[in-house]
Amino acid sequence: NYVDIIDPKNPKNHCVLIKNYQKIAEKIKNFKIYKDDVWIMSFPKSGTTWTQEMAWLLNNNLDFEKSKEDLVSRYIFLEFEGILYSNLDATFDKYVANAQKPRYIKCHLPVFMLPDELWTIKPKIIYTVRNPKDVIVSFYHHYRHLQGYSGTLHDFINAFVNDKVSYSPMNEHVLEYWKLSKKYENILFLFYEDRIRNLEQEVKKVAKFLEKEYSQEEIEKVCEHLTFDSMQKNSSCNNENLTKMLKEKHEYETKDEKFNFIREGKVGSYKKEMNEEEIKRVEEYMNFPDFKEHGFEYKN
Ligand code: A3P
Repeated sequence: NYVDIIDPKNPKNHCVLIKNYQKIAEKIKNFKIYKDDVWIMSFPKSGTTWTQEMAWLLNNNLDFEKSKEDLVSRYIFLEFEGILYSNLDATFDKYVANAQKPRYIKCHLPVFMLPDELWTIKPKIIYTVRNPKDVIVSFYHHYRHLQGYSGTLHDFINAFVNDKVSYSPMNEHVLEYWKLSKKYENILFLFYEDRIRNLEQEVKKVAKFLEKEYSQEEIEKVCEHLTFDSMQKNSSCNNENLTKMLKEKHEYETKDEKFNFIREGKVGSYKKEMNEEEIKRVEEYMNFPDFKEHGFEYKN
């Protein structure tokens, strides 16, 4: 069901995506952009949901009441919606014409697949990166529970380092956004690990980026709302309706096991689940600039 989509302009760029994506690739390239859009980008399982909730609250005058509505309904998940709905034209036109402004958009696409207008209209874009070893473990559990994957973690690691899981390759995904964030002021590049170490500092960074001012007391309230425990208890952020819908729709092996989207929320989860040889394989795969000061561990 997956294909490796190659950038016609530069065959070095490629991305593994569900086949249906090809039907909407053109629509996404031509997707209309508004200056006040807020775009949340990432490789999957890097803390996207966390960034989404943070950015939405900070950009909505801390409307905790409205934030009780499903996160899924407060955001457009760009490529996913397009893939899900059969009437693609109507779906996309609805977003462009009827979506309430400012729009909040989540997207996992690599840079080369993004709408062209992003680079001329330049709305605010927040990219979150996370250490691939934890991403792999998190993605594996996601795949098992929400996508019916029945392989082992070992199989999944193999697929990951051979760039076979969706949105692969991760290295290039991260590197391209990293490079752009150095070039454009409208791109904020954040680390999951920094947030675990100092949530308040990261919340302040996002508030500043969104040009919002809050008192220390308000910032602390946001941080309280964004702790792992609060987010896991919060059905809107824990994506409970979506998880339930997917579990009911599919006969996956894990159908009867409870799955929290906000699952474990740790740095170093991989140490519990990967053996030495697997860790080494992932570390050899990783090819990042010097992210070690953000708590990334790798050899090269
Ligand atoms: P784990 O599966 O390792 O627990 P995404 O939103 O990109 O799908 O990422 C999901 C990952 O982010 C999950 O990782 C989830 O627990 C973690 N996460 C989400 N909110 C968090 C929070 N408030 N604190 C720590 N981790 C969080």
